[in-house]
Amino acid sequence: MLELKNLVFDAPVEEGSRETKRIIDNLSLVIPDDSFTVITGPNGGGKSTLAKLIMGIEHPTSGQILFDGQEISELTIAERAKMGIGYGFQQPARFKGMKVKKLLEIAAGERLPMLACNQYLAKVGLCSADYLTREVDKNLSGGEVKRIEIATMLARDPKLAIYDEPEAGIDLWSFDRLTETFRQIHDAGNGHSIVIISHQERIIRLADTIVLLQNGRVTGQGTPDEIMPDLGLARKGVNGCALTEPTRLHLTQIPTTC
Ligand SMILES: Nc1ncnc2c1ncn2[C@@H]1O[C@H](COP(=O)(O)OP(=O)(O)O)[C@@H](O)[C@H]1O
Ligand SMILES: [Mg+2]
Repeated sequence: MLELKNLVFDAPVEEGSRETKRIIDNLSLVIPDDSFTVITGPNGGGKSTLAKLIMGIEHPTSGQILFDGQEISELTIAERAKMGIGYGFQQPARFKGMKVKKLLEIAAGERLPMLACNQYLAKVGLCSADYLTREVDKNLSGGEVKRIEIATMLARDPKLAIYDEPEAGIDLWSFDRLTETFRQIHDAGNGHSIVIISHQERIIRLADTIVLLQNGRVTGQGTPDEIMPDLGLARKGVNGCALTEPTRLHLTQIPTTC
Protein backbone atom coordinates (compact mmCIF):
# COMPACT_ATOMS: atom_id res chain seq x y z
CA MET A 1 0.00 0.00 0.00
CA LEU A 2 1.19 3.50 -0.85
CA GLU A 3 0.33 6.39 1.44
CA LEU A 4 1.04 10.01 0.68
CA LYS A 5 0.68 12.25 3.71
CA ASN A 6 0.52 16.04 3.43
CA LEU A 7 2.91 16.01 0.52
CA VAL A 8 4.30 19.38 -0.57
CA PHE A 9 6.64 20.08 -3.47
CA ASP A 10 7.91 23.59 -4.15
CA ALA A 11 10.01 24.28 -7.24
CA PRO A 12 11.89 27.40 -8.35
CA VAL A 13 9.73 29.71 -10.47
CA GLU A 14 12.53 29.53 -13.02
CA GLU A 15 15.92 27.85 -13.07
CA GLY A 16 18.29 29.36 -10.52
CA SER A 17 15.54 31.50 -8.99
CA ARG A 18 15.12 31.66 -5.20
CA GLU A 19 11.43 32.33 -5.56
CA THR A 20 9.38 29.13 -5.54
CA LYS A 21 5.94 28.02 -6.65
CA ARG A 22 3.91 25.25 -5.03
CA ILE A 23 3.48 22.35 -7.46
CA ILE A 24 2.10 19.75 -5.02
CA ASP A 25 0.01 21.32 -2.29
CA ASN A 26 -0.51 19.38 0.96
CA LEU A 27 -1.65 16.28 -0.93
CA SER A 28 -2.78 13.15 0.92
CA LEU A 29 -3.73 9.99 -0.95
CA VAL A 30 -3.88 6.22 -0.32
CA ILE A 31 -3.29 3.66 -3.08
CA PRO A 32 -4.35 0.28 -1.61
CA ASP A 33 -2.93 -3.08 -2.75
CA ASP A 34 -4.71 -4.76 -5.64
CA SER A 35 -6.20 -1.48 -6.84
CA PHE A 36 -6.49 0.29 -10.17
CA THR A 37 -6.33 4.07 -9.93
CA VAL A 38 -6.41 6.64 -12.69
CA ILE A 39 -5.08 10.10 -11.92
CA THR A 40 -6.47 12.70 -14.26
CA GLY A 41 -6.78 16.46 -14.41
CA PRO A 42 -5.73 19.48 -16.46
CA ASN A 43 -2.25 19.84 -17.90
CA GLY A 44 0.15 21.42 -15.46
CA GLY A 45 -1.87 20.17 -12.49
CA GLY A 46 1.09 18.25 -11.04
CA LYS A 47 0.37 14.66 -12.17
CA SER A 48 3.82 13.87 -13.58
CA THR A 49 5.47 15.62 -10.63
CA LEU A 50 3.49 13.45 -8.23
CA ALA A 51 4.65 10.29 -10.07
CA LYS A 52 8.27 11.53 -9.93
CA LEU A 53 7.97 12.17 -6.17
CA ILE A 54 6.71 8.61 -5.63
CA MET A 55 9.54 7.18 -7.74
CA GLY A 56 12.23 9.38 -6.16
CA ILE A 57 13.13 11.43 -9.23
CA GLU A 58 12.00 14.49 -7.28
CA HIS A 59 12.06 14.91 -3.49
CA PRO A 60 9.24 16.44 -1.46
CA THR A 61 9.67 19.78 0.30
CA SER A 62 7.68 18.28 3.19
CA GLY A 63 5.29 15.44 3.92
CA GLN A 64 5.62 11.68 3.91
CA ILE A 65 5.60 8.87 1.35
CA LEU A 66 5.01 5.45 2.90
CA PHE A 67 5.22 2.22 0.93
CA ASP A 68 4.05 -0.87 2.79
CA GLY A 69 4.36 1.17 5.98
CA GLN A 70 7.97 2.23 5.38
CA GLU A 71 8.93 5.88 4.89
CA ILE A 72 10.62 6.01 1.47
CA SER A 73 11.08 9.77 0.92
CA GLU A 74 14.82 9.51 1.54
CA LEU A 75 15.37 6.37 -0.54
CA THR A 76 16.98 6.41 -3.98
CA ILE A 77 15.18 5.53 -7.21
CA ALA A 78 16.99 2.16 -7.27
CA GLU A 79 15.96 1.36 -3.69
CA ARG A 80 12.34 2.18 -4.43
CA ALA A 81 12.47 0.10 -7.63
CA LYS A 82 13.82 -2.79 -5.56
CA MET A 83 10.89 -2.44 -3.16
CA GLY A 84 8.54 -2.88 -6.12
CA ILE A 85 7.72 0.56 -7.48
CA GLY A 86 7.88 0.92 -11.26
CA TYR A 87 7.43 4.07 -13.31
CA GLY A 88 6.70 4.45 -17.02
CA PHE A 89 7.75 7.92 -18.12
CA GLN A 90 5.56 10.32 -20.08
CA GLN A 91 8.61 10.65 -22.37
CA PRO A 92 10.78 7.53 -21.98
CA ALA A 93 14.54 7.55 -22.38
CA ARG A 94 16.38 5.85 -25.24
CA PHE A 95 19.29 3.49 -24.66
CA LYS A 96 21.86 3.51 -27.45
CA GLY A 97 23.41 0.07 -27.95
CA MET A 98 20.70 -1.70 -25.92
CA LYS A 99 18.58 -4.20 -27.80
CA VAL A 100 14.87 -4.59 -26.99
CA LYS A 101 15.31 -8.22 -25.86
CA LYS A 102 18.07 -7.23 -23.42
CA LEU A 103 15.95 -4.42 -22.02
CA LEU A 104 13.06 -6.83 -21.41
CA GLU A 105 15.42 -9.27 -19.68
CA ILE A 106 16.89 -6.58 -17.42
CA ALA A 107 13.34 -5.60 -16.46
CA ALA A 108 12.31 -9.20 -15.79
CA GLY A 109 15.55 -9.90 -13.91
CA GLU A 110 16.11 -13.13 -15.83
CA ARG A 111 16.77 -14.52 -19.30
CA LEU A 112 13.51 -14.73 -21.17
CA PRO A 113 12.45 -17.38 -23.66
CA MET A 114 11.48 -16.03 -27.08
CA LEU A 115 7.82 -16.81 -26.44
CA ALA A 116 7.70 -14.58 -23.35
CA CYS A 117 9.35 -11.71 -25.25
CA ASN A 118 6.85 -12.16 -28.08
CA GLN A 119 3.96 -12.02 -25.63
CA TYR A 120 5.16 -8.84 -23.89
CA LEU A 121 5.65 -7.08 -27.21
CA ALA A 122 2.35 -8.36 -28.63
CA LYS A 123 0.55 -6.86 -25.61
CA VAL A 124 1.73 -3.42 -26.64
CA GLY A 125 1.01 -4.08 -30.31
CA LEU A 126 4.57 -4.64 -31.53
CA CYS A 127 5.75 -7.55 -33.65
CA SER A 128 8.72 -9.37 -32.11
CA ALA A 129 10.25 -10.14 -35.49
CA ASP A 130 10.50 -6.42 -36.21
CA TYR A 131 11.65 -5.20 -32.82
CA LEU A 132 13.41 -7.78 -30.64
CA THR A 133 16.89 -7.22 -32.08
CA ARG A 134 16.51 -3.50 -32.62
CA GLU A 135 18.32 -0.96 -30.52
CA VAL A 136 16.26 1.40 -28.37
CA ASP A 137 17.95 4.44 -29.91
CA LYS A 138 16.94 7.55 -31.83
CA ASN A 139 15.90 5.48 -34.84
CA LEU A 140 12.76 4.46 -33.00
CA SER A 141 9.80 6.85 -32.90
CA GLY A 142 8.44 8.26 -29.64
CA GLY A 143 5.45 5.90 -29.85
CA GLU A 144 7.69 2.87 -30.37
CA VAL A 145 9.91 3.75 -27.40
CA LYS A 146 6.81 4.32 -25.32
CA ARG A 147 5.42 0.89 -26.17
CA ILE A 148 8.75 -0.81 -25.51
CA GLU A 149 8.89 0.88 -22.13
CA ILE A 150 5.38 -0.37 -21.31
CA ALA A 151 6.47 -3.89 -22.38
CA THR A 152 9.43 -3.67 -19.95
CA MET A 153 7.03 -2.69 -17.18
CA LEU A 154 4.89 -5.72 -18.01
CA ALA A 155 8.03 -7.90 -17.85
CA ARG A 156 9.04 -6.39 -14.50
CA ASP A 157 5.51 -6.66 -13.08
CA PRO A 158 6.20 -4.33 -10.14
CA LYS A 159 4.05 -4.33 -7.02
CA LEU A 160 3.04 -0.76 -7.85
CA ALA A 161 3.18 0.23 -11.52
CA ILE A 162 2.79 3.91 -12.40
CA TYR A 163 2.20 4.70 -16.07
CA ASP A 164 2.36 8.34 -17.15
CA GLU A 165 0.06 8.92 -20.14
CA PRO A 166 0.64 5.49 -21.75
CA GLU A 167 -1.71 6.44 -24.58
CA ALA A 168 0.54 9.19 -25.95
CA GLY A 169 1.76 8.42 -29.47
CA ILE A 170 -0.02 5.08 -29.64
CA ASP A 171 -2.29 4.21 -32.55
CA LEU A 172 -5.87 3.04 -32.12
CA TRP A 173 -5.28 -0.64 -32.75
CA SER A 174 -2.52 -0.82 -30.13
CA PHE A 175 -4.54 1.33 -27.78
CA ASP A 176 -7.24 -1.35 -27.76
CA ARG A 177 -4.61 -3.97 -26.93
CA LEU A 178 -3.20 -1.79 -24.21
CA THR A 179 -6.53 -1.20 -22.49
CA GLU A 180 -7.14 -4.97 -22.68
CA THR A 181 -3.71 -5.55 -21.08
CA PHE A 182 -4.43 -3.12 -18.24
CA ARG A 183 -7.73 -4.87 -17.68
CA GLN A 184 -5.97 -8.26 -17.49
CA ILE A 185 -3.40 -6.94 -14.98
CA HIS A 186 -6.28 -5.51 -12.99
CA ASP A 187 -8.21 -8.78 -13.03
CA ALA A 188 -5.16 -10.92 -12.13
CA GLY A 189 -5.79 -10.17 -8.44
CA ASN A 190 -2.19 -10.77 -7.35
CA GLY A 191 -2.11 -7.83 -4.97
CA HIS A 192 -0.33 -5.60 -7.47
CA SER A 193 -1.61 -2.08 -8.05
CA ILE A 194 -1.68 0.07 -11.15
CA VAL A 195 -1.74 3.83 -11.21
CA ILE A 196 -2.29 5.35 -14.63
CA ILE A 197 -2.05 9.03 -15.35
CA SER A 198 -4.39 9.52 -18.27
CA HIS A 199 -6.86 11.74 -20.07
CA GLN A 200 -8.35 8.80 -21.95
CA GLU A 201 -11.97 8.12 -21.21
CA ARG A 202 -11.59 4.40 -21.95
CA ILE A 203 -8.71 4.03 -19.52
CA ILE A 204 -10.57 6.10 -16.93
CA ARG A 205 -13.56 3.76 -17.21
CA LEU A 206 -11.36 0.74 -16.38
CA ALA A 207 -10.33 2.10 -13.00
CA ASP A 208 -11.67 1.32 -9.53
CA THR A 209 -10.88 4.85 -8.40
CA ILE A 210 -10.42 8.11 -10.23
CA VAL A 211 -8.36 10.82 -8.61
CA LEU A 212 -8.82 14.32 -9.98
CA LEU A 213 -5.68 16.41 -9.52
CA GLN A 214 -5.81 20.16 -10.02
CA ASN A 215 -3.32 22.80 -8.92
CA GLY A 216 -1.39 20.16 -6.99
CA ARG A 217 -4.43 19.14 -4.94
CA VAL A 218 -6.85 16.23 -5.00
CA THR A 219 -10.12 17.93 -5.92
CA GLY A 220 -12.15 14.79 -6.49
CA GLN A 221 -11.92 11.07 -5.79
CA GLY A 222 -14.39 8.28 -6.48
CA THR A 223 -15.53 5.59 -8.87
CA PRO A 224 -15.70 6.36 -12.62
CA ASP A 225 -19.48 6.75 -12.32
CA GLU A 226 -19.06 9.29 -9.55
CA ILE A 227 -16.26 11.30 -11.14
CA MET A 228 -17.02 11.07 -14.87
CA PRO A 229 -19.83 13.65 -14.71
CA ASP A 230 -17.36 16.20 -13.26
CA LEU A 231 -14.89 15.47 -16.04
CA GLY A 232 -17.64 15.77 -18.64
CA LEU A 233 -17.99 19.43 -17.75
CA ALA A 234 -14.72 20.06 -19.55
CA ARG A 235 -16.30 19.05 -22.84
CA LYS A 236 -18.86 21.79 -22.50
CA GLY A 237 -16.09 24.33 -22.02
CA VAL A 238 -16.47 24.57 -18.26
CA ASN A 239 -13.39 24.03 -16.08
CA GLY A 240 -12.04 20.58 -15.29
CA CYS A 241 -10.13 18.05 -17.27
CA ALA A 242 -10.15 17.99 -21.06
CA LEU A 243 -10.72 14.36 -21.91
CA THR A 244 -9.58 13.10 -25.27
CA GLU A 245 -11.70 10.75 -27.33
CA PRO A 246 -9.95 7.64 -28.71
CA THR A 247 -10.58 8.95 -32.22
CA ARG A 248 -8.46 11.97 -31.47
CA LEU A 249 -5.39 9.93 -30.56
CA HIS A 250 -2.29 10.57 -32.64
CA LEU A 251 -2.00 7.96 -35.36
CA THR A 252 1.50 6.63 -35.80
CA GLN A 253 3.05 4.65 -38.62
CA ILE A 254 4.11 1.62 -36.59
CA PRO A 255 3.71 -1.88 -38.04
CA THR A 256 1.31 -3.63 -35.70
CA THR A 257 0.84 -7.00 -37.36
CA CYS A 258 3.31 -9.87 -37.68
N1 LIG B 1 11.46 20.55 -11.12
C1 LIG B 1 10.60 21.51 -11.49
N2 LIG B 1 11.00 22.80 -11.53
C2 LIG B 1 10.14 23.78 -11.88
N3 LIG B 1 8.87 23.59 -12.25
C3 LIG B 1 8.42 22.32 -12.25
C4 LIG B 1 9.25 21.21 -11.88
N4 LIG B 1 8.52 20.09 -11.98
C5 LIG B 1 7.30 20.47 -12.40
N5 LIG B 1 7.24 21.80 -12.55
C6 LIG B 1 6.04 22.59 -12.95
O1 LIG B 1 4.95 22.05 -12.21
C7 LIG B 1 3.75 22.14 -12.93
C8 LIG B 1 3.11 20.77 -13.01
O2 LIG B 1 3.78 19.99 -13.97
P1 LIG B 1 3.45 18.46 -14.25
O3 LIG B 1 3.61 17.70 -13.01
O4 LIG B 1 4.28 18.05 -15.42
O5 LIG B 1 1.91 18.54 -14.64
P2 LIG B 1 0.99 17.48 -15.41
O6 LIG B 1 1.74 16.19 -15.54
O7 LIG B 1 -0.24 17.39 -14.57
O8 LIG B 1 0.69 18.10 -16.75
C9 LIG B 1 4.11 22.74 -14.28
O9 LIG B 1 3.83 24.09 -14.23
C10 LIG B 1 5.60 22.47 -14.39
O10 LIG B 1 6.23 23.43 -15.19
MG1 LIG C 1 2.37 15.08 -17.18
